[in-house]
Amino acid sequence: MLTDYERLANLNKDYLWNPFTQMKDYISSDPLIIERGEGIKLYDVQGRAYYDGFSSVWLNVHGHNVPELNQAITDQLSRVAHSTLLGMANRPAIELAEKLTGIAPSGLNKIFYSDSGAAGVEIAIKMAFQYWQNKGVKSKKAFITMNQAYHGDTIGAVSVGAIPLYIRLRASLTSGQSG
Ligand SMILES: Cc1ncc(COP(=O)(O)O)c(C=O)c1O
Repeated sequence: MLTDYERLANLNKDYLWNPFTQMKDYISSDPLIIERGEGIKLYDVQGRAYYDGFSSVWLNVHGHNVPELNQAITDQLSRVAHSTLLGMANRPAIELAEKLTGIAPSGLNKIFYSDSGAAGVEIAIKMAFQYWQNKGVKSKKAFITMNQAYHGDTIGAVSVGAIPLYIRLRASLTSGQSG
Protein backbone atom coordinates (compact mmCIF):
# COMPACT_ATOMS: atom_id res chain seq x y z
CA MET A 1 0.00 0.00 0.00
CA LEU A 2 1.51 3.31 -1.11
CA THR A 3 1.61 6.31 1.19
CA ASP A 4 -0.12 9.47 -0.04
CA TYR A 5 3.33 10.98 -0.73
CA GLU A 6 4.43 7.95 -2.77
CA ARG A 7 1.19 8.01 -4.78
CA LEU A 8 1.59 11.71 -5.62
CA ALA A 9 5.30 11.31 -6.41
CA ASN A 10 4.53 8.45 -8.81
CA LEU A 11 1.73 10.44 -10.47
CA ASN A 12 4.05 13.44 -10.78
CA LYS A 13 6.66 11.34 -12.52
CA ASP A 14 4.08 9.61 -14.75
CA TYR A 15 2.01 12.61 -15.80
CA LEU A 16 3.58 15.95 -14.92
CA TRP A 17 6.39 17.56 -16.89
CA ASN A 18 8.02 20.13 -14.60
CA PRO A 19 9.30 23.27 -16.38
CA PHE A 20 12.99 24.22 -16.33
CA THR A 21 13.64 20.82 -14.79
CA GLN A 22 15.81 18.01 -16.10
CA MET A 23 13.19 15.27 -15.85
CA LYS A 24 15.79 12.52 -16.23
CA ASP A 25 17.22 13.61 -12.87
CA TYR A 26 13.87 14.55 -11.37
CA ILE A 27 12.33 11.11 -11.80
CA SER A 28 15.19 9.51 -9.91
CA SER A 29 14.69 11.91 -6.97
CA ASP A 30 12.12 12.23 -4.21
CA PRO A 31 10.21 15.33 -5.34
CA LEU A 32 9.17 18.08 -2.99
CA ILE A 33 5.36 18.19 -3.10
CA ILE A 34 3.64 21.18 -1.53
CA GLU A 35 0.29 20.94 0.22
CA ARG A 36 -0.29 24.44 1.57
CA GLY A 37 1.28 27.77 2.43
CA GLU A 38 1.10 30.23 5.30
CA GLY A 39 2.89 33.58 5.22
CA ILE A 40 6.53 33.04 4.34
CA LYS A 41 6.34 29.25 4.73
CA LEU A 42 5.28 26.35 2.54
CA TYR A 43 4.33 22.94 3.93
CA ASP A 44 4.80 19.70 2.03
CA VAL A 45 2.35 16.82 1.92
CA GLN A 46 4.28 15.15 4.73
CA GLY A 47 3.83 18.20 6.97
CA ARG A 48 7.39 19.56 6.78
CA ALA A 49 7.76 23.36 6.72
CA TYR A 50 10.02 25.29 4.34
CA TYR A 51 10.87 28.98 4.15
CA ASP A 52 9.78 30.16 0.71
CA GLY A 53 12.88 32.32 0.51
CA PHE A 54 12.54 33.13 -3.19
CA SER A 55 8.79 33.82 -3.01
CA SER A 56 7.95 30.91 -5.34
CA VAL A 57 10.23 32.36 -8.03
CA TRP A 58 9.46 35.99 -7.10
CA LEU A 59 5.72 35.63 -7.75
CA ASN A 60 4.40 35.37 -4.23
CA VAL A 61 5.60 38.69 -2.92
CA HIS A 62 2.86 39.08 -0.30
CA GLY A 63 3.23 35.60 1.19
CA HIS A 64 0.93 32.60 1.14
CA ASN A 65 -2.68 32.38 2.21
CA VAL A 66 -2.95 36.09 3.00
CA PRO A 67 -6.46 36.68 4.43
CA GLU A 68 -6.99 40.04 2.69
CA LEU A 69 -6.01 38.63 -0.71
CA ASN A 70 -8.07 35.47 -0.18
CA GLN A 71 -11.06 37.63 0.72
CA ALA A 72 -10.67 39.85 -2.33
CA ILE A 73 -10.39 36.80 -4.60
CA THR A 74 -13.40 35.14 -2.97
CA ASP A 75 -15.45 38.33 -3.27
CA GLN A 76 -14.64 38.59 -6.97
CA LEU A 77 -15.27 34.88 -7.59
CA SER A 78 -18.72 35.23 -6.07
CA ARG A 79 -19.48 37.90 -8.71
CA VAL A 80 -17.75 36.55 -11.84
CA ALA A 81 -14.51 34.53 -12.30
CA HIS A 82 -13.81 35.62 -15.87
CA SER A 83 -15.25 37.74 -18.62
CA THR A 84 -13.51 38.85 -21.76
CA LEU A 85 -12.02 42.24 -22.61
CA LEU A 86 -12.59 41.61 -26.31
CA GLY A 87 -14.86 44.49 -27.28
CA MET A 88 -16.21 44.89 -23.74
CA ALA A 89 -14.95 45.49 -20.23
CA ASN A 90 -15.55 44.69 -16.59
CA ARG A 91 -15.43 46.60 -13.33
CA PRO A 92 -12.09 45.35 -11.83
CA ALA A 93 -10.24 45.65 -15.16
CA ILE A 94 -11.31 49.28 -15.46
CA GLU A 95 -10.71 50.23 -11.84
CA LEU A 96 -7.28 48.56 -11.69
CA ALA A 97 -6.27 50.26 -14.95
CA GLU A 98 -7.06 53.63 -13.42
CA LYS A 99 -5.05 52.79 -10.28
CA LEU A 100 -2.06 51.54 -12.28
CA THR A 101 -1.89 54.65 -14.42
CA GLY A 102 -1.89 56.63 -11.18
CA ILE A 103 1.36 55.02 -10.02
CA ALA A 104 3.05 54.55 -13.42
CA PRO A 105 5.57 57.16 -14.66
CA SER A 106 3.90 60.11 -16.35
CA GLY A 107 3.05 59.53 -19.99
CA LEU A 108 2.23 55.84 -19.40
CA ASN A 109 -1.50 56.27 -19.26
CA LYS A 110 -2.97 53.21 -20.97
CA ILE A 111 -3.11 49.67 -19.57
CA PHE A 112 -3.03 46.49 -21.67
CA TYR A 113 -3.23 43.35 -19.55
CA SER A 114 -1.19 40.22 -19.94
CA ASP A 115 -1.11 37.07 -17.85
CA SER A 116 2.63 36.38 -17.68
CA GLY A 117 6.02 37.96 -18.15
CA ALA A 118 6.67 36.20 -21.46
CA ALA A 119 3.28 37.21 -22.85
CA GLY A 120 3.97 40.78 -21.69
CA VAL A 121 7.25 40.76 -23.64
CA GLU A 122 5.48 39.34 -26.71
CA ILE A 123 2.92 42.14 -26.50
CA ALA A 124 5.63 44.80 -26.12
CA ILE A 125 7.51 43.42 -29.14
CA LYS A 126 4.38 43.45 -31.26
CA MET A 127 3.35 46.92 -30.14
CA ALA A 128 6.79 48.40 -30.82
CA PHE A 129 6.89 46.72 -34.23
CA GLN A 130 3.39 47.77 -35.18
CA TYR A 131 3.97 51.34 -33.98
CA TRP A 132 6.69 51.89 -36.58
CA GLN A 133 4.79 49.98 -39.28
CA ASN A 134 1.75 52.22 -38.73
CA LYS A 135 3.99 55.29 -38.87
CA GLY A 136 5.22 54.13 -42.25
CA VAL A 137 8.77 53.33 -41.10
CA LYS A 138 8.58 49.82 -42.51
CA SER A 139 12.28 49.01 -42.15
CA LYS A 140 12.36 49.47 -38.39
CA LYS A 141 11.97 45.92 -37.15
CA ALA A 142 15.23 44.94 -35.43
CA PHE A 143 15.45 44.45 -31.67
CA ILE A 144 18.63 44.93 -29.70
CA THR A 145 19.21 42.44 -26.91
CA MET A 146 21.69 42.44 -24.05
CA ASN A 147 24.20 39.68 -23.50
CA GLN A 148 22.70 36.91 -21.34
CA ALA A 149 19.26 38.57 -21.49
CA TYR A 150 16.27 36.52 -20.40
CA HIS A 151 12.74 37.66 -21.25
CA GLY A 152 10.71 34.47 -20.92
CA ASP A 153 10.36 31.17 -22.65
CA THR A 154 7.84 31.70 -25.44
CA ILE A 155 9.23 31.86 -28.98
CA GLY A 156 8.99 35.66 -29.31
CA ALA A 157 10.49 36.26 -25.87
CA VAL A 158 13.32 33.81 -26.59
CA SER A 159 13.99 35.63 -29.85
CA VAL A 160 14.97 38.79 -27.94
CA GLY A 161 16.88 36.84 -25.28
CA ALA A 162 20.50 35.80 -25.38
CA ILE A 163 21.15 32.92 -23.01
CA PRO A 164 22.96 30.35 -25.16
CA LEU A 165 21.39 27.36 -23.41
CA TYR A 166 17.89 28.60 -24.25
CA ILE A 167 18.45 29.93 -27.74
CA ARG A 168 20.88 27.35 -29.16
CA LEU A 169 18.32 24.75 -30.24
CA ARG A 170 15.63 27.26 -31.14
CA ALA A 171 17.72 29.70 -33.15
CA SER A 172 16.23 28.51 -36.42
CA LEU A 173 12.74 29.14 -35.05
CA THR A 174 13.43 32.63 -33.76
CA SER A 175 15.78 34.19 -36.28
CA GLY A 176 15.28 32.34 -39.54
CA GLN A 177 18.86 31.04 -39.35
CA SER A 178 19.67 27.38 -38.95
CA GLY A 179 20.46 26.40 -35.40
C1 LIG B 1 13.31 39.48 -16.79
C2 LIG B 1 12.23 38.48 -17.05
N1 LIG B 1 11.42 38.68 -18.10
C3 LIG B 1 10.44 37.79 -18.38
C4 LIG B 1 10.24 36.66 -17.60
C5 LIG B 1 9.16 35.67 -17.97
O1 LIG B 1 8.10 35.71 -17.09
P1 LIG B 1 7.05 34.53 -17.06
O2 LIG B 1 7.73 33.34 -16.46
O3 LIG B 1 5.94 35.07 -16.18
O4 LIG B 1 6.58 34.26 -18.45
C6 LIG B 1 11.05 36.44 -16.50
C7 LIG B 1 10.87 35.24 -15.68
O5 LIG B 1 11.67 34.87 -14.86
C8 LIG B 1 12.08 37.36 -16.22
O6 LIG B 1 12.92 37.17 -15.18
